[in-house]
Amino acid sequence: MPTIESPFQYKSDEMHCEGVALSKIASEVGTPVYVYSRSELERAYKAFDAALEGIPHKVCYAVKANSTLGVLSVLAELGAGADIVSYGELFRWQKAGGDPGKVVFSGVGKTETEMVQALKAGIYAFNVESGEELFVLDKVALSLGLRARVSLRVNPDVDAGTHPYISTGLKTNKFGISMEESRDLARAAAKLKGIEIIGVDFHIGSQLTKTSPFADAIARLTALITELAKDGIKLTHIDIGGGLGIDYGKGDLVPSPAEYGAAVREALAPLTALGVTLVTEPGRVLVGAAGALVTQVLYRKRNEAKHFTIVDAAMNDLMRPALYGSYHPMKPVKDPGRADITTDVVGPICETGDFFARDRNLPEMAAGELLWIGAAGAYGAAMASNYNTRPRVPEVLVRGGSYTVIKTRETYEQLIAGERLPQS
Ligand code: LLP
Repeated sequence: MPTIESPFQYKSDEMHCEGVALSKIASEVGTPVYVYSRSELERAYKAFDAALEGIPHKVCYAVKANSTLGVLSVLAELGAGADIVSYGELFRWQKAGGDPGKVVFSGVGKTETEMVQALKAGIYAFNVESGEELFVLDKVALSLGLRARVSLRVNPDVDAGTHPYISTGLKTNKFGISMEESRDLARAAAKLKGIEIIGVDFHIGSQLTKTSPFADAIARLTALITELAKDGIKLTHIDIGGGLGIDYGKGDLVPSPAEYGAAVREALAPLTALGVTLVTEPGRVLVGAAGALVTQVLYRKRNEAKHFTIVDAAMNDLMRPALYGSYHPMKPVKDPGRADITTDVVGPICETGDFFARDRNLPEMAAGELLWIGAAGAYGAAMASNYNTRPRVPEVLVRGGSYTVIKTRETYEQLIAGERLPQS
């Protein structure tokens, strides 16, 4: 549901993004199309940054949430750093004008090639996730005559209370290093010539709706940092990952960045006093509310059990409902005041999992009408695929009364560009 602050608002019964009617974008660019608001990207970044005021900090935007160059460039211009999980994301970040010196590199499976590329680019830190990775990174850095700045990703064994697929801070998850092993590894790292150990980090999950798991994890890492200081290992930062949730319009109570900032400030106080600085890796909270997917109704049908609204977007364009059963707000682009019916909003893909909503109360829409699917700026376009040989959809960035196509619709020729027929 568009909230008061949302950039998506009805004007004369027609949904706009900032000053541009969505129907104008749809008729000029076609559907499905992702629409982003530049002012909302700016508002979200500034609100998050301001919530941490007074704590020396870096906001390293998690590129995976939305990696379109036009979106990255807005965040880079605002002064953001980046949290990357592949060389591909570093490549994009630099193409968008982002500073490699403000990049942290997360992920359990960095290859040696990626380590070389990131070291040469001069990234700020590697978030190392295992002992084996640490020793490989040491070897790679030495081979280049460089030292890799390293933070150890600790698995604090804290329950983030979110969907199991996006919960990452439990000891049953593949992420990070146990508290016990982290101590030994930090001591070993301090002796390696190719490594400079500067921090510890965690990321406990995504779409968190409480601040207490962040505070619990900070407390656990504070104990570790204090213990290492006694060994003469002085860490200069703690990276608390991303994870702050957003409102998907289902009435979930989500902490505001200000509430999150207050909880973090309180939990961090003992470390701030020791001169330890903060790194954060927010993704969803910076880009989620700024984006919507606009799709056209193709057909309706009713069988004995259900009513279906078939739209031209599908699970390959926005995968979250199919993958996590996620809820996204939906509204007709025009005339929202009609009576509701209960319907399943589905796409053209040949899978029962290809749905955007089940048993949703929505104004009854006719074929040809446009549907707004909100809160789709994060993990929407970034997770899109070509399944069913569907070209990936265009993306536009609105600024005030005008917009830029920041990604054109893929062509069929682009889709098959790398493919060859067998020669024998
Ligand atoms: N840092 C690390 C190491 C991460 O793995 C992630 C997200 C983030 C930061 C950013 O988290 P955020 O602030 O966006 O919650 N595809 C799923 C979300 C997967 C999140 C993966 N890691 C979804 O659509 O809900």
